[in-house]
Amino acid sequence: MSTVISIKNKSEVFVGRVEDGLKRFVNNRRVIVITDANIDRLYHNIVSRYEHIIIGHGEGNKNLLTVQNIYARLIEMGADRSTLLIGIGGGIVTDITGFVASTYMRGLDFGYVSTTLLGQVDASIGGKNGVNIINYKNMVGTFAQPLFVISDVEFLRTLPPRELRAGMGEVVKMSIVGDAELFEFIEQNISHDCYANTDIMQRIVLDSVRLKADIVDRDECEKGIRRVLNLGHTIAHAIEKCTRKLNHGEAVAVGLSKIAHVSHSLGILTEEDMQRIDSILEKIGFVLDIPASIIDVLREVRYDKKKSDNKLRIVLPEKIGSCRIEEMPFDEVERSFSILKE
Ligand SMILES: NC(=O)c1ccc[n+]([C@@H]2O[C@H](COP(=O)([O-])OP(=O)(O)OC[C@H]3O[C@@H](n4cnc5c(N)ncnc54)[C@H](O)[C@@H]3O)[C@@H](O)[C@H]2O)c1
Repeated sequence: MSTVISIKNKSEVFVGRVEDGLKRFVNNRRVIVITDANIDRLYHNIVSRYEHIIIGHGEGNKNLLTVQNIYARLIEMGADRSTLLIGIGGGIVTDITGFVASTYMRGLDFGYVSTTLLGQVDASIGGKNGVNIINYKNMVGTFAQPLFVISDVEFLRTLPPRELRAGMGEVVKMSIVGDAELFEFIEQNISHDCYANTDIMQRIVLDSVRLKADIVDRDECEKGIRRVLNLGHTIAHAIEKCTRKLNHGEAVAVGLSKIAHVSHSLGILTEEDMQRIDSILEKIGFVLDIPASIIDVLREVRYDKKKSDNKLRIVLPEKIGSCRIEEMPFDEVERSFSILKE
């Protein structure tokens, strides 16, 4: 069974079998696949059907040097405006593919086959792409919708447990932002073997995609409501700058827990909801301590790129299923975040 969700009438997210998705979206066009070495090794049967470019895996490759190497390969291969680029992989591959496709020759059509949980529920959805510059994550990028995203939960069977957990961090974020029923569903169904259960994973992916699609439909370029999806990310990005011990999803999990505590201390989130957030994250297997000096993390929070006029936009959970965005002056942020030092 497959389900198709449309975004901005520009992009179709296909949740179902990868073969059916490829049949639906790839007709007789010239296709060039961009993927990483892990996906090429595990899914060579899919990658080898098309001309392809392999990049290294890991956040260290999400930079302009990789982008430049891909441009050079595309020129060598004679790619032109009629070529369809398909990124097959996790968030790193799809972010890079979206950026390359929307800039090479001022824009080619592109699509994704999303192979990680984090990619299927978040990174591949919504048309944001980008690469890292120096120490700044996703600092350069574009808004450009892929023609299609194919998400087949069978890919998750080969994903290492740590990457599955990382994806669940974003799913929990999505449920706190706007879907209390999804939160309850996770509370009831999470276990170390749930990731191999196609029905559970399809429900989790579909609900997350629907929620994100709805938000992106209302605010494609993140000028308003879409900012709620940054819940937990101010702290997560600061942690990622201070230490490489955590991957993105793990840092988001710590960020979600900490912002829930901040929101509770401000009298917004109830103690019960704060505890439910901590216990769902712990049940998934996250360690919720900040694995770096709090002083360093707070200093990085100050340099968050979502700042304007010396104010920082902070997303605060009000209850499970609802969040608010507050513009806070730095000193107020520092005061509210000082509970993290305790
Ligand atoms: N564009 C957005 O809106 C958005 C949103 C959230 C995150 N992101 C970005 O996404 C990136 C993280 O994405 P990610 O967590 O998917 O990481 P990733 O792309 O690095 O993938 C994680 C690892 O799993 C491997 N892998 C991928 N699919 C696999 C499979 N099916 N089986 C076995 N191994 C597999 C990859 O090779 C990689 O080593 C970050 O750079 C983050 O900034 C972007």
